[in-house]
Amino acid sequence: MTGQTQKNQTIWLDEDYPDGVRIIDQRVLPFTYSEITIDSVESMAESILTMAVRGAGCIGVSAGFGMYLAALEARSLTPAKAEEHLNASADKLLATRPTATNLSWAVAMQLKALSGIEDENQRIQKAREIAVGISDDDVSSCRRIGEIGVKLIRDLHTEYGRKINILTHCNAGWLAFVKHGSATAPIYAAQKAGIPIHVVVGESRPRNQGALTAWELNGAGVEHTYLVDSAVGHIIQNGEVDIVFVGADRVSMNGDVANKIGTYLRALAAREGDVPFYVNFPSSTLDPYSKNGISDIEIEERPEKEVSHVSSVVEGRNVAARVLPPGSPARNPAFDVTPHQMITGLITERGLCDANPMALAKMFPDYVARAS
Ligand code: MRU
Repeated sequence: MTGQTQKNQTIWLDEDYPDGVRIIDQRVLPFTYSEITIDSVESMAESILTMAVRGAGCIGVSAGFGMYLAALEARSLTPAKAEEHLNASADKLLATRPTATNLSWAVAMQLKALSGIEDENQRIQKAREIAVGISDDDVSSCRRIGEIGVKLIRDLHTEYGRKINILTHCNAGWLAFVKHGSATAPIYAAQKAGIPIHVVVGESRPRNQGALTAWELNGAGVEHTYLVDSAVGHIIQNGEVDIVFVGADRVSMNGDVANKIGTYLRALAAREGDVPFYVNFPSSTLDPYSKNGISDIEIEERPEKEVSHVSSVVEGRNVAARVLPPGSPARNPAFDVTPHQMITGLITERGLCDANPMALAKMFPDYVARAS
């Protein structure tokens, strides 16, 4: 720890840093807690790319604040040059990570709101307002997802009369958003309600975001066990999982879900074991322009080195040790798509929705309208 008092929020404005945005640097978690200031759109893009901020919700909020930084940078430019700078900044942010919809959604919202504002102070004010609004919505959506999801855990507890075992994957906790998390919000709500729970956390190789989830649950005092990814089929087969909650990086209008690599395998095992499988996400993760996740969603391919090496943090420094013989090629698709037919339900702030095109169109008519 660096001596900083730990926050339970990933990104925020701080009056002591008026020209920047503060973030928790997730590159050194779960070993070192470190807050840093991001003071340019360039360094916000770098933070998204290098995963100092990560997780679909947090990426979207970071992009929103990135555009606020771009507006600050455009302060002394002519209106035409300012618009040029905003567009170039949007492109820079969009080029960082392709799968999480929240990124392009937040950037598009900022560009639309800022378009045509010639007064620099008004432009900065508007960009700040939009960024804070995106962040506030992320917080309230996750809180609502928790209220909806906890009912499912409570029902299982009433039915089984014992501790409920919840499987999650990757980190769809508060570190992947601003606060609360999407997959973890029902877990924290269950803990608050005094429902006995145990969370099974898969490591989520190669970046091991499961360790971030373990760090969060540890901090919150939630009972949990960390497993290698390949142990998940075994424990589902053994009846050690009652319900699955995962997050999402992009959801298509037919209910297909792109999420961290390995989600599809968990869905297959859950279907085989007759375990309910829920996907929790704020509606900013629903992509109105994607009709079919398997054919439409771009899957990020990440560096081979994340697979050929195992990484850790030693004395505050990132280190990597090779595990693959030199000369053997590796591949690193970061996400996969779970077909909607395998999903028991989608939990958003609007409610619990069946994972099919008709149910989504009924709950999200504004999304259907946006794409037509
Ligand atoms: O590659 P990351 O760490 O940005 O991965 C995204 C995720 O956090 C997960 O896929 C998560 O389940 C999505 S919920 C925001």
